[in-house]
Order: sequence, then C-alpha cells, then structure tokens
Amino acid sequence: MDVIDGKNPGLVSHKGFLVIKGLHDPDAVDMIRNLEIKESDVLVVTYPKSGTIWMQQILLLLEAKGNLTAISKHITFSNAELVPWIEVQTEAFIKSRSPRMTVSHLPFSLLPSALSQKKGKVIYVARNPKDVLVSYFHFHKVGNMLETPTDFDDFFEKFMRGDVFASSWFEHIKAWYLHKDDINMLFLTYEEMVKDLHSAVERVALFLGSALTDEQLADVVKHATFNNMKKNPQANYERVPGRLLSHHQGTFLRKGEQGHCCRCMQEEPETKDESCAAAVEKIRVIL
Ligand code: A3P
Repeated sequence: MDVIDGKNPGLVSHKGFLVIKGLHDPDAVDMIRNLEIKESDVLVVTYPKSGTIWMQQILLLLEAKGNLTAISKHITFSNAELVPWIEVQTEAFIKSRSPRMTVSHLPFSLLPSALSQKKGKVIYVARNPKDVLVSYFHFHKVGNMLETPTDFDDFFEKFMRGDVFASSWFEHIKAWYLHKDDINMLFLTYEEMVKDLHSAVERVALFLGSALTDEQLADVVKHATFNNMKKNPQANYERVPGRLLSHHQGTFLRKGEQGHCCRCMQEEPETKDESCAAAVEKIRVIL
C-alpha cells in the first residue's frame, strides 16, 4: 500500500486504486474479491457523485413496494444501514438478509470475482464527468474524510489525474463498461434518471424481477424524486454524525441537475467563462 504523500494526504493507493486512509481497511477490501455471491445479491456500482444514494433509495423502495414507512422503521441514521457500502461495512453486507443489497465505488478489479460467473446483479450508474467534477468538488467540503480542496483549479487537476478517492473517473467507467457483458449488469446513466425517473425505475424493477403494481411503482418514483429525498432525513444523510459529514458546509443532495458548466454554473452553451470552456474541452478530448 503506497501513501500518496503531498498529493492528497488522506488517500492511500491499494492495488492502484485510491482509498481513504482510516475509512477503508485494505485487508477488508481484499476479502471482498473472494466473497461468495448469491444469485439474489444486488450491487450498485458508481464513481462517487454519480447517483449512489439515489439508487440506494430506489432499491429500498422497490424492495418495500413503495412503502416508505416500512423502510423507516429499520433505520436510525441513514439508508446505508440497510444498503451499506461494501468496502466500508463488509460484515454488515455479508450478514444482511436476502436479497442483500450494497453500494460500492470499487473498480471492477477489486469487486467479487464471482460476479464474472454471472452471479448476483450489478447496477452501474454513470454520470457525465463534468457534473461529477462539480459535485465532487463541493462534496470535498462536506465529507470530513476528504481533504478540502484549495480551489476549483487545484481540484480539477487532481480529478483529471485521478488523485482523488476512487482514482480516475475515466478508468472506473471504462473497466466496468468493458465487462458489462461478462456479468449481470444493468448500465444506467444519471442523466436518463433525471430525464425520466419513471422509466429508469421500471428498468431497474425489470432487471431485479420486482413485481410491483402501477401504484406501487408510482410510489417508488414519488419517494425517489430529488425534492422528496431532500426532505427525507434517512435518504438525505442529515443524521449522519458530524464527525463524518460537516452538515453546515453543504448537503449530499445539493442540486441534482445535469449539464452545468464547471465554474460559472451556467448551461454549457451559455458559458462565458474561458477557463471553464478550456476545462470542458480537456474532458471532451479524453472522452
Ligand atoms: P449534485 O451534487 O450535483 O447535486 P452520490 O450519491 O453518488 O454521492 O451522488 C450525489 C449526487 O446525486 C448529488 O449531485 C445529489 O444531489 C444527486 N442526487 C441524489 N439524489 C438525487 C435525486 N433524487 N435526484 C437527482 N439527483 C440526486
């Protein structure tokens, strides 16, 4: 395990992938590779800030057939108690009741090899990197486990080099996308969820084999909208202890929008900010 001195002191490289010192235990991460996976297991995989907690909420709602109260009874702080991050709460995932549900930011190379035998189901949610970049920049002020960026330019360079937790957006999505036919995977984008949440939820339900009535499906959609999740303390993470999240610095559910330029936050064709345009161009060239 190499310490990334001077670049991002809170991060360590584990098998080429940057994890958070003190939060991710490299031995636990290694154990994940050999975990037994059940047919009914569901893994949501994302690069950070791509809609992880959104899909977490959708999974819980589908399982509860749209009944929010049924979910709330089992939660003290946040949805992560029922749909944990596999790389942080590995034991909680292993011991959870079937269907076991988990979220993860790990790369393809570190998640259970059993997935390649088409065991379990993976939902990969991808979001365009410009919005991920902006969302991630703001989240670095909220997440106490992440170093607060000096400024946007500094963070932009780190993001482009992959010197951030979860390393490079480009590598993450590339590796998962390349293996999409080797595993049971539903590939969804954040943008299609924003555009038509009902259709996105229907696709997830179909993929998981969840049998819901039209009314139940409509309830899932209702409780998974940005405005309703923002008001829901379990879905919006406001009860997560202050040692982990600086709630006064911002929220998990910040804007929930797409297609804004990096700095001036205007719709792209409107951007007048030259350095933003340059940043967008750099990302476009790589894509
Ligand atoms: P913004 O910071 O752009 O608002 P993650 O869960 O992977 O950390 O992603 C967080 C991003 O998903 C945040 O983006 C958050 O607002 C957005 N998000 C969460 N729930 C959402 C919802 N119901 N609708 C739209 N965006 C949502």
